[in-house]
Parts: sequence; structure tokens; C-alpha cells
Amino acid sequence: MENKTIKININGKDFEENINSNLLLIDFIREKIKLTGSHIGCDTSQCGSCMVLYNDICLKSCSVLAIQMDGAKITTIEGISDGDNLHPMQESFRECHGLQCGFCTPGMIISAIALIKEKPTPSEKDIREHLEGNLCRCTGYENIVKSISAGAEKMKG
Ligand code: FES
Ligand code: FES
Repeated sequence: MENKTIKININGKDFEENINSNLLLIDFIREKIKLTGSHIGCDTSQCGSCMVLYNDICLKSCSVLAIQMDGAKITTIEGISDGDNLHPMQESFRECHGLQCGFCTPGMIISAIALIKEKPTPSEKDIREHLEGNLCRCTGYENIVKSISAGAEKMKG
């Protein structure tokens, strides 16, 4: 398999790496950049635990090749807080008990932020429909939906 050098900005930092052209973006992020907050929960592009932000859109990073992201800006769960200050959506998940084991949470939060960028005041139906691509095996989703509604309010400032 051919190698290629790519330049990519992750969480505001530039990286230049020579990689195998069949390396998935999630493996690039976790193995090359050593950011392990984005999780791998399936091998079928269904669970959403690997989601990252690409131009304010949530992207399943297991479904694209790293070389397709040459020149791109990506934000992972590690890049959304302001130093020690949690992102408002992270605060809301904590306050509304939007997680249990936490495995799906990075993807849920990234997905929620993308939704609010597109629709600042989502209805419960909007939130539930948007979460179609994010699976949680613990919570039953009730508190996740509450967390996202509360997070949307907080993000208005
Ligand atoms: S690991 Fe990407 S969707 Fe499941
Ligand atoms: S909190 Fe455990 S999978 Fe969602």
C-alpha cells in the first residue's frame, strides 16, 4: 500500500505525517496523534462514538480515510473545552446525567454541538432524529436528550 504525506489541523494544531493511504481517520487520530477521546465502537459506521467535527459538521471518523482529510481542520472531543473550562454541552451532560459508562459520550457531545450549530433551538423531536447516528447502550437516551436541550440553552450564552 502506497504512503502519502498529509497536513492536517487537529484542535488548532498543525500536523504533517507520512501515512499509509488506507489508514482510517479514526486510527490516524488515535494512533498517530494519540488523541484517544474519540472511540471505536463498531466496524460498520453505525455507533457514532468516533465522531469529530469537520467544518461544524459531525463526521464519523471511521468512515473516511485520513488522506481524504489532507488540508482539513478537524476538532475532536479534546478540542472543544477552553482549557480547564468544560464546553457548555459537556457541562450539561454532567449536570443532566447524560451518561453512564461514557463510551458513547464523546460522539454524542460532538454530534450535539453540530446539531446546535445548525439548529440553535432544537425541539425534542429534532434531537431524537439527529441522534439516529449515535448509539448508546446504557442510558435509554432520556437524559441525553435533556442534556442536549440544556446544552443548547447554555450555548446561547
Ligand atoms: S466506530 Fe465509527 S460509527 Fe462506530
Ligand atoms: S453511556 Fe454507556 S454507551 Fe452511552
